[in-house]
Amino acid sequence: MRLATAGLAIATFASLVAASAASDAPPQFGDPLPGLTASQSGAFADGKTEFNSAEGVNDGLGPVFNGRSCAECHSVPAVGGGSERLVTRFGTTTNGQFDPLAQFGGSLIQDHAITRADGSTHNFAPETVPAAATIVVHRRTPPLFGLGYVDAVPDQTFFALAALEAQRGDGTAGRVNVVTNVATGLQSAGKFGWKSQVPSLFVFSGDAIVTTYPPVPQSAYPELLRHADLDKRVAAGDLAARKPKITPHLPKVRRKR
Ligand code: HEC
Repeated sequence: MRLATAGLAIATFASLVAASAASDAPPQFGDPLPGLTASQSGAFADGKTEFNSAEGVNDGLGPVFNGRSCAECHSVPAVGGGSERLVTRFGTTTNGQFDPLAQFGGSLIQDHAITRADGSTHNFAPETVPAAATIVVHRRTPPLFGLGYVDAVPDQTFFALAALEAQRGDGTAGRVNVVTNVATGLQSAGKFGWKSQVPSLFVFSGDAIVTTYPPVPQSAYPELLRHADLDKRVAAGDLAARKPKITPHLPKVRRKR
């Protein structure tokens, strides 16, 4: 299916940012790193095309959605960047627990809808914040440049950094948010999303597709994930149990002069 391929290509596109060493001129925003193999360049180009391509009613867009393409929001100063576009999340507290109000389409609002102008037989109404919501937040579109590097950092490094911070004893220390990676079923370090709740770019891209163009059937999602080459990762629970090798430096990024 087309969107499934799109997600795979986007994830590959993002991961490739980490895949290769740089050569002469530094790449500009939105460019691939220099030194990619022919197949990596091809995957980058495919991913960029899908990231830019606008979905329509015939692709399954609607009745409600947030954007017609990824680049519609992630665009400044180049494709893959950020923008002033906001998304809205809402919810409430029920019995002391966060309640995403899924019965009203929460927690993420789809604030656009297809109309006759899109070739729909009906003018649909976008979602709005329901009266039951007591929590409403707006999140601005962040740039995605360089996140392939973050994706490539092993989970172990995050545990080591957290342990290092705790060891300093200066009153501030981060904790790794351990989450379930739906692509592997394993526990992993959360690296992406507002609350580090997403373990990899691959999973985030799949989620972005499902939440941006919601009618894409959830059943396509596992299909996306089957292609993930993530099962070589070690479960974060196992990593946390190991004695972390503490190093005061962030991992070196391979770079040619
Ligand atoms: C309507 C605007 C909009 C569209 C369309 C959109 N995004 Fe986003 N994107 C956002 C916002 C806002 C965030 C931050 C939200 C959050 O983390 O909860 C975000 C976050 C992300 C992140 C995580 C960044 C990080 O540092 O953790 C990735 C990866 C991403 N988007 C990829 C995509 C892909 C792939 C698509 C297309 C399928 C897409 N986005 C479509 C607005 C958008």
